Amino acid sequence: MSVTPFEFARAHNERFITELEQFLRIPSISTLSEYAEDVSRAAKWLENHLQAIGLQNVAVYSTDGHPIVYGEWCGVPEAPTLLFYGHYDVQPVDPLDQWHSPPFEPVVQEGKIFARGATDDKGQVFLVLKAIEAWLATKGALPCNVKLLLEGEEEIGSPNLPDFLRANTERLSCDAVLICDTAMAAEDVPSLVYGLRGLAYLELSVYGPRRDLHSGSYGGAVVNPANALAGIIAALHDEQGRVAVPGFYDDVVPLSEEERALLRMLPFDEEAFRTELGVDALGGEKGYTVVERIGARPTLDVNGMWSGFIGEGAKTVLPAVAHAKISMRLVPNQRADHIAHLVAQRIEQLAPTGVRVQVRLLHGADPVIIDRRSFAMEAAAQALEATFGRPAVWQREGGSIPVVTEFQRIFGVPVVLMGFGLHTDGAHSPNEHFHLKNFSRGIEAVVRFFAELSQRAALYAP
Ligand code: BES
Ligand code: MN
Ligand code: MN
Repeated sequence: MSVTPFEFARAHNERFITELEQFLRIPSISTLSEYAEDVSRAAKWLENHLQAIGLQNVAVYSTDGHPIVYGEWCGVPEAPTLLFYGHYDVQPVDPLDQWHSPPFEPVVQEGKIFARGATDDKGQVFLVLKAIEAWLATKGALPCNVKLLLEGEEEIGSPNLPDFLRANTERLSCDAVLICDTAMAAEDVPSLVYGLRGLAYLELSVYGPRRDLHSGSYGGAVVNPANALAGIIAALHDEQGRVAVPGFYDDVVPLSEEERALLRMLPFDEEAFRTELGVDALGGEKGYTVVERIGARPTLDVNGMWSGFIGEGAKTVLPAVAHAKISMRLVPNQRADHIAHLVAQRIEQLAPTGVRVQVRLLHGADPVIIDRRSFAMEAAAQALEATFGRPAVWQREGGSIPVVTEFQRIFGVPVVLMGFGLHTDGAHSPNEHFHLKNFSRGIEAVVRFFAELSQRAALYAP
């Protein structure tokens, strides 16, 4: 009797989790140079794993930064080709003391696997590998061709990936792109993301006197860079919660009534959202719902700031310099480089005399809107509905995946963002985890997606 891919996945679930634990043990933190070896080790681990599950032309490509892992199975020339993109790099783990167990020693507890990268994005990459394995192990074939592109620099803005795509357009040519690196609207609610915000990230430094000064002997007579920084930051919003930078909203596409209605249909519990965060009120731009503020409106936020004395107790000092990391989340049709330029210009205007400001652009990503009616989206919607037993909802995600606009520009093919995380999974936060239920359902949905894609491509063929 022949085993189906679903039966195979269920039967091998425990082994899958043990393998995922191995992958999660490698601390592939892309932004910290002391982990560069570990990032390479994760690439090597993937290379071995892709070979083990039966992919072909598996290779690790070095770049000016961290390596790219590639593998493919192209055994059905008449069927469509899917390019799967994911990332194996992870975010730093601080604040370390808030983790209940060490971030690179995965533990399974109450149906969740805890580790840095569990949901973003190692767990979600791994479920796709297991869906491929389930097909190859049971049928010796996939219903469509699959190419895998796994990078180690997503969390630092994918600086080397666009060049790689342009240099390898032939090898990577495809009919659709799949990415599993987003969250579902709520538990048990299958979701397709049709928008991602963009990002412009700046580091601002405010320089004052040539050295730190006694705040008694000098305070009151010298412009304090920390005070100046606070003033600049405060002036970047108005009372309506809007970003007070001339031109900031010029290219923003207003939300249509139709889209607002679509977003209102999402299962969103504002009260639960607020209490889970432990705040007594939510903030943001007046005139928009929370869902709209997160997914469909641009923002400006301080990500970190430091200056002067931050040790224990009091030290009376007037700092020589103050720094802040500031990011803007962007929506169509804002462009990252243009917005960075506008904000930098405004900051220079706001700087009082007596200090000097320096603004550096760290990285950027353009915002994305995806066609909800492509054949690939239909295939995804069908696969999700069959797996979850209810239709998928449409979401605009507040986060960013920098390479998506490049896929649209370079390949011009439909992109599907079908993620299995939850916003409460703690991506980028302490105690990151992934629900094993969603890991299994993710495998099933991707198993189905391959078949649906193949069938639909045939339907749509001329
Ligand atoms: N997987 C996330 C994107 C994401 C965020 C999806 C939130 C769903 C919800 C991705 O790994 C990520 O974190 N992207 C960065 C962008 C990058 C340039 C640092 C982000 O959004 O901050
Ligand atoms: Mn991610
Ligand atoms: Mn991330």
